[in-house]
Amino acid sequence: MSLRLNVLNISKSFNGKAILKECSVSFDSGGVHVLMGPNGSGKSTFLRICALLERPDKGEVRYVSESATLEKDISLKRRITLVLPGVGVFNTTVFENVAYGLQMRGVKKKEIEEKTLRVLEFVGLTHKRDHNALVLSSGEIQRLGIARALVIEPEILFLDEPTAYIDQENTEIIEDIILNMKKQGRSTVIITTHYMERGARLADRVLIIQDGQIIDKKSV
Ligand SMILES: Nc1ncnc2c1ncn2[C@@H]1O[C@H](COP(=O)(O)OP(=O)(O)O)[C@@H](O)[C@H]1O
Ligand SMILES: [Mg+2]
Repeated sequence: MSLRLNVLNISKSFNGKAILKECSVSFDSGGVHVLMGPNGSGKSTFLRICALLERPDKGEVRYVSESATLEKDISLKRRITLVLPGVGVFNTTVFENVAYGLQMRGVKKKEIEEKTLRVLEFVGLTHKRDHNALVLSSGEIQRLGIARALVIEPEILFLDEPTAYIDQENTEIIEDIILNMKKQGRSTVIITTHYMERGARLADRVLIIQDGQIIDKKSV
C-alpha cells in the first residue's frame, strides 16, 4: 500500500494574521521529510492541518492511495498519526501505554504482546516496560509517544518537534530512532523542527517555512 499526501493551496490565519499563505506541497510515499522554520512560523499549524486535526481557511488536504482519493473517514485516520511534544501518558505501565492502541483495535493478545515488545525495543524502553509511565523523564515520554504511534504501523507518521525541550541524550536517541525508521522504510515520516542543522542530518528532503510559504529544498 502506498499513501500519498497532496496539500493544495492551503491558507490559515489566526486573529487576522496570515500564518500559511497558499501553501502547496506533495509527499510521495516513503522517506523522511523535515519541515524547518523558527518558532512561530506555522510548522505545528501546518502539521495539524495535514493530520486532519484542523481545517485550513482555504485549500485542501488530499490523501491518495494507489489511484483513489480517500475520504476523510476513520479508515484514513488509522493510516496517519501525529505525535505532539509533551504528549500525555496514561497512569499505568509503559507496556500498557503502548499496548492500548492495539487493544482498542481488538488485536489478539499474543499479537499485542509481540508488537508492543518489538516497538519498546525499537525506542529503547524495554527495561522500563513495567514502570509507571508517569515517572518517565520528558525525553522518555517523547519516546513513549513515538512507540504508541509506531505500534499502530501508520503509513504516515507526523512528528511535531520530536526533540524540543529534552536533554541531549534523549535527543540523540530520538534522532537514532528516526534514522532507523528511515532505514526500515515502513512509514513516510514528516517532521517539524526549529533545530535547522540537526534536522537536515536526518532528512531525505528539507522543506523550509518562511513568511507563510513553504519552500521545497528537494532532496539533500
Ligand atoms: N489555535 C491558535 N489560535 C491562535 N493563534 C494560533 C493558534 N495556533 C497557532 N497560532 C499562532 O500561529 C503562529 C504559528 O504557530 P505555530 O504553528 O505553533 O508555529 P510553530 O509550530 O512554527 O512554532 C503563532 O503566532 C501562534 O501564536
Ligand atoms: Mg510548533
